[in-house]
Amino acid sequence: MVAFTGTALSQDPTLAATPPMGWNSWNHFAGRVDDADIRAAADAMVSSGMRDAGYLYVNIDDTWEGQRDANGVIHANEKFPDMKALADYVHSKGLKLGIYSGPGPKTCAGYPASYGHETQDAQTYAAWGIDYLKYDLCSFRQIMRTQAPHDPQKQFEMEKAAYEKMHQALLATGRPIVFSLCQYGLNDVWKWGTSVGGNLWRTTDDINDTWERMSDIGFGQLGLAQYAGPGHWNDPDMLEIGNGGMTEDEYRTHMSLWAILAAPLLAGNDLSKMSPETLALLTNKEVIAVDQDPLGKQGDRASALGMTEIWTRPLRNGALAAGLFNRDDTEQAITLNLHDIGFTDHAKLRDLWKHQDVSATHGSFTVTVPPHGVVMLKISR
Ligand code: GLA
Repeated sequence: MVAFTGTALSQDPTLAATPPMGWNSWNHFAGRVDDADIRAAADAMVSSGMRDAGYLYVNIDDTWEGQRDANGVIHANEKFPDMKALADYVHSKGLKLGIYSGPGPKTCAGYPASYGHETQDAQTYAAWGIDYLKYDLCSFRQIMRTQAPHDPQKQFEMEKAAYEKMHQALLATGRPIVFSLCQYGLNDVWKWGTSVGGNLWRTTDDINDTWERMSDIGFGQLGLAQYAGPGHWNDPDMLEIGNGGMTEDEYRTHMSLWAILAAPLLAGNDLSKMSPETLALLTNKEVIAVDQDPLGKQGDRASALGMTEIWTRPLRNGALAAGLFNRDDTEQAITLNLHDIGFTDHAKLRDLWKHQDVSATHGSFTVTVPPHGVVMLKISR
């Protein structure tokens, strides 16, 4: 018999070593998602080449939950007849399966969540073969308000304890499960998300498929870079690329900005009905390489002039990614001065969307950027 040594369980260091990549059902399917949609997403992830471009997790969001049985064990509802078989199917494609719950009694869409059943639910997920859990605060906020009225500090402690409880329950399963905190960036979650086992945490309220919302969120991520790193990432929410509400330039800005932010890349469109333009935006290998850079340093804004902004991200081998963003409704010329970002006139420049080397003149690179568009560069020594 092996004696219990009391050693604290700790997280698998290879989990989310780079920002998680995959797909999530919510942005397109919302409450309609079912088993067939998840299988179709997994199929499309492989046939489209997205898996080979690095997309790995197929994540079921809210509305899969059914009832608890007499022993308290959660079952999926009729839309998901056999969760274990679904996980086996997704795994057979070389992909991983994610699921959704929360610390409250109900999810945001009003389905049963994990309150009082955390250990049991973690065991159930592990038995099904789940690899990723998005844990959404939702109705736990009512519990906080009821149990600690007018005491924000106590409420905050309750919230952290609720996340830590599920963290421990996941660790106790022995299965590596990515833990995604979803509490909309409350209480500066980036400062404590790691301490409750978060591999990623939402930094904002929900995204939607509009330029206004996407750009507000993306360009609003100023100052958060110091909190991200291998195993723990800021999450400005899932991608809307391909959902139809933005122009191709706007979606290119979305992808470029998320890559510079070292954000999780969770596609949110219908993968089985994807245009070639959408696929090209999602699978640009040079842009994905920025997102997945092994140094794991998140980028930040380097400068702003009028409605234009330059964001940069340090990459391995002393290279740098730079996004020259135009938030204006008319085209704008944007100039990048290599000296301003720590490079000499001899730096090498590459346009990551054109897949072409470009050159600076006397250390300065000027380019016309379309409205709501971007030119994304990699600068090497
Ligand atoms: C919240 C989350 C969303 C989604 C929905 C599901 O709004 O922030 O990402 O998971 O709940 O109900």
